[in-house]
Amino acid sequence: MRSTKLSIITIVLVQVACLNAFTQKFENLALTPPMGWNSWNKFGCNINENIIRYTADAMVSNGMKEAGYSYILIDDCWQAGRDSLGFIVADPEKFPSGIKALADYVHSKGLKFGIYSCAGRKTCGNRPGSRGHEFQDAMSYANWGVDYLKYDWCNTEGQNASESYSLMRDALFEAGRPIVFSICEWGLSKPWEWATEIGHLWRTTGDIQNNWDIPDAKEGKCWAGGVLINLDMQQGLEKYAGPGHWNDPDMLEVGNGGLTENEARSHFSLWCMLAAPLIAGNDLTQMDPVSKDILINKDMIAIDQDKLGKQGYKIKDYGEIEVYYKPLNNSDMAICFFNRLDYPIQVEFDWTSMSLSATRDSKPLLLGLKIDRKDNYIEGQYSIWNVWQKKSVGTTSQKFIASLQGHDVIVLRLTSVTKK
Ligand code: GLA
Repeated sequence: MRSTKLSIITIVLVQVACLNAFTQKFENLALTPPMGWNSWNKFGCNINENIIRYTADAMVSNGMKEAGYSYILIDDCWQAGRDSLGFIVADPEKFPSGIKALADYVHSKGLKFGIYSCAGRKTCGNRPGSRGHEFQDAMSYANWGVDYLKYDWCNTEGQNASESYSLMRDALFEAGRPIVFSICEWGLSKPWEWATEIGHLWRTTGDIQNNWDIPDAKEGKCWAGGVLINLDMQQGLEKYAGPGHWNDPDMLEVGNGGLTENEARSHFSLWCMLAAPLIAGNDLTQMDPVSKDILINKDMIAIDQDKLGKQGYKIKDYGEIEVYYKPLNNSDMAICFFNRLDYPIQVEFDWTSMSLSATRDSKPLLLGLKIDRKDNYIEGQYSIWNVWQKKSVGTTSQKFIASLQGHDVIVLRLTSVTKK
């Protein structure tokens, strides 16, 4: 009894002492946007250790590991309660072997392991959160071999976001095991303005839904939106992203059945243009070939993972037709034409003036130019690689002419042929 009391007093003292002593995040982590898989989008609270093990197996056998995916992340609902000393305990029915054994298994596959908690007393799924147990939880994660922590924002009434996330950052640092820290505060208090020194990535939106578009969300009538809403919320945030600190427009819905093939390709491509974390959210053990081909397109992934770490942005907005641009290492660049219309169009892009014209059934489409960023993108001549067609398509000395399906993208990688 006496020793129990002493342990609790020690933990409290350590927590208080640590508040001031450690104010650092782990550097040299997530130098490119993290790539992996998370349980939430497909399984929600219905998770168990077999799902996690089979997912790790699948990530190795289906080519995703080779394509660069490395994190296996358990989201909410793995926790059952706390022991008499306040240490977090995993649900013994769903995770009978314990979290350490699971982390060891994931590591044995050459992958990394991540877990979830929340800055409030309860998680969004009503499990114990980390509030008041930050240093204790960080210690447990480090002991188990955790490599990544997603830290949510439910039940935090009265808490200050930057203080709460700083506290967990300090706890992780004190625990001593390098852990990628993923801030999941949904963009409410503009984490891009304060989180660079705290986390390695931060959510910028509410929860993505397995949908292309949810017009109600656009009008602010509901919190969570589809792919288009999350995409549109990234405009203007590009200046906050870079190696070790990324905007996170939420996890991928590719392979979850709510998007057409064109939409899934656009979702993935646009997330890559944004240098977004690529966290698959589908059942990897039963993936259809189309979703797999999308998720492992190596040229698309190379654009996301480019070591310059620049987030791409919209340079032209003609209403329903847009052009995105992402500067890449070695003076390369990626250009993405995006068609929000639900019918195919013909696009013609003039590299000299960076202007687009579009036709439908040979008739000009009226395009009102809403955004026209006129930076000096193209100097000299570039060869063009079509990322989804997987072939060379000429150079920038000629207009680029192609047909673009509804809700689809064309992504081009430009490489200078007149290198200085
Ligand atoms: C919040 C997060 C989601 C997921 C759930 C889990 O809604 O934003 O990504 O983690 O909680 O309960």
